[in-house]
Amino acid sequence: MENLNIDWETLPFGYMKTDYNLRVTFKDGKWGEVEVHDDENLPLHIAATCLHYGQQVFEGMKAFRGADGRIRIFRPEENARRMRDSAAGIMMEPIPEDLFIDMIKRVVKMNERFIPPYGCDSSLYIRPLEIGLSPRIGVSPATEYMFMVMVMPVGPYFKHGFKPTQVVIYRDYDRAAPCGTGRWKVGGNYAAGMQATQRAKANGYAAALFLDPKEKLYIDECGPANFFGIKGNKYITPKSGSILPSITNRCLQQIALDMGMEVECRPIHVEELATLDEAAECGTAAVAAPIYLIEDHDKGVNYTFGTPDKAGPVVTKLMQRLRDIQRGDYPDEHGWVMILE
Ligand SMILES: Cc1ncc(COP(=O)(O)O)c(C=O)c1O
Repeated sequence: MENLNIDWETLPFGYMKTDYNLRVTFKDGKWGEVEVHDDENLPLHIAATCLHYGQQVFEGMKAFRGADGRIRIFRPEENARRMRDSAAGIMMEPIPEDLFIDMIKRVVKMNERFIPPYGCDSSLYIRPLEIGLSPRIGVSPATEYMFMVMVMPVGPYFKHGFKPTQVVIYRDYDRAAPCGTGRWKVGGNYAAGMQATQRAKANGYAAALFLDPKEKLYIDECGPANFFGIKGNKYITPKSGSILPSITNRCLQQIALDMGMEVECRPIHVEELATLDEAAECGTAAVAAPIYLIEDHDKGVNYTFGTPDKAGPVVTKLMQRLRDIQRGDYPDEHGWVMILE
């Protein structure tokens, strides 16, 4: 295998061409043969539903190289399930779970040389994507779909250490509607969140924190991550129909229980932020990103947690345990890791 000239420690979270991507088409009521491509481009009909009516769903997960040299993929079955839910949510053909898993394993193996070595903070990001192919000008679902998987090495989320971040609440944007698509991983949700996110970033915040779109009273989630707080011995995370069910959040809840904590999944009133000891965002990208300050912009209130230069002890412990499980440095007691033979 040809060696790569990559500085694993300075990689950004960004696109990089790797050797192969895999694709499969749904046509005439069935999924066809998986195709291996080294081309990054797609032949698309100019009227395809993915281009006009947002028929597009995606996923994100990671593979790691362990100290034993083995490749570990973190909970791909959960991503397979969520992708089926997302597809069904916007009237797309759900991908069979075994096909999803086979393609993930194959594409990781075929691009093995891009998996960062054990000991660095980088990982191989896996991006499955499904799109509607059929041409439609009247609004209706496609009958032909393409499912594809690409991978690329990505760098550590925290380049300068595990540092607390600041986020902001703006009440004049919603990323999702109360009975809308927020619980599915569809591209349109990210487009809907872009104005708030870009405004937050332009003002020096790491992210925008969205409130529930109906009453604007309860915490929903950040652009690409769920929210959780620590209050005494409790792990508290929002229950909401307009947030993406985060796989990382579910793992952290289990780890909190394993560590003897209580877990509460319930609406969190924005004013309850004042009572939390620690706060964090969680998701595949960072596992957990501690939050130091939440500015409620329209109310002119700041909520702070701990100190700006050091993550809180509970968030740190939870994050570290999950990272260790992902890399094979802590026993996989819940069967979360798929080892590639
Ligand atoms: C909107 C949103 N919420 C939460 C998450 C975190 O989900 P997960 O932990 O499954 O990566 C993501 C990332 O996938 C996301 O895009």
